[in-house]
Amino acid sequence: MPPPPTILVFDSGLGGLTVLREIVAARGDAHFIYVADDAFFPYGHHSEEAIIARVVPLIGDLIGQHAPDLVVIACNTASTLVMSHLRAAYSVPFVGTVPAIKPACALSKTRRVSVLGTKGTVQREYTRKLISDFAQGCEVTLVGSPELAALAESALSGGTVSDRDIAAELAPCFVGDPDDPLARTDAIVLACTHYPLLFDRLIKLAPWEVAWIDPAPAIARRASDLLGPPTGAADQAGAEMIFTSNKPHNLSKALMPFFGGRVPA
Ligand code: DGL
Repeated sequence: MPPPPTILVFDSGLGGLTVLREIVAARGDAHFIYVADDAFFPYGHHSEEAIIARVVPLIGDLIGQHAPDLVVIACNTASTLVMSHLRAAYSVPFVGTVPAIKPACALSKTRRVSVLGTKGTVQREYTRKLISDFAQGCEVTLVGSPELAALAESALSGGTVSDRDIAAELAPCFVGDPDDPLARTDAIVLACTHYPLLFDRLIKLAPWEVAWIDPAPAIARRASDLLGPPTGAADQAGAEMIFTSNKPHNLSKALMPFFGGRVPA
């Protein structure tokens, strides 16, 4: 039997775990390495040049150390900048994570869609181009959230995050007449992989019901297609968690569900 494929999933922090869990569900046969670049978190606060200069060589080092069969950049703030650089530099197949503007606009009935991402992601040329190519006549509101990724990290790490702080980040997404379901936002793109970590609270704190668009299942399908048919070697597959800061952490238990119940070494 061929050895299990190795999939390396990369993010600035813990947000990419929301993508990882979908890939784990699709590919139980794979060995997973999750890399959180916490030494440089949050990416949303760095310049475009700084992110390219950080991520491209770091991914090269990780490829050298772990020889993955596939690399998933589970970060919108990075993917909207670095994918072409990575593909030019390394021969490993890559899957990126970019704002799901096309499906959101396709399903919006009120033609009002909001894109909730980091300040970096909503400023990107790449994101503007997705809107001009795929908005399909929708009015798209870009919301650059300064703190939501950090709040999500903190919540997953056991910290207390107030409803008020989350609601403040969310409020600008809700546009139009609150009393008229036909004239207000009805779809929100979760354009940062951290935000689904707070999914229950986003639903609870939303002033009205909307469709939340999370691209993680589509990314998992793409990753699985690129790998080809499962090898059936699930019993040999393991999971590793790497923090670039090398700081000690006590998160293994909290992270297990994202690894399909495996304890990440
Ligand atoms: N998880 C990242 C994303 O999808 C960004 C969080 C950050 O580092 O600012 O955009």
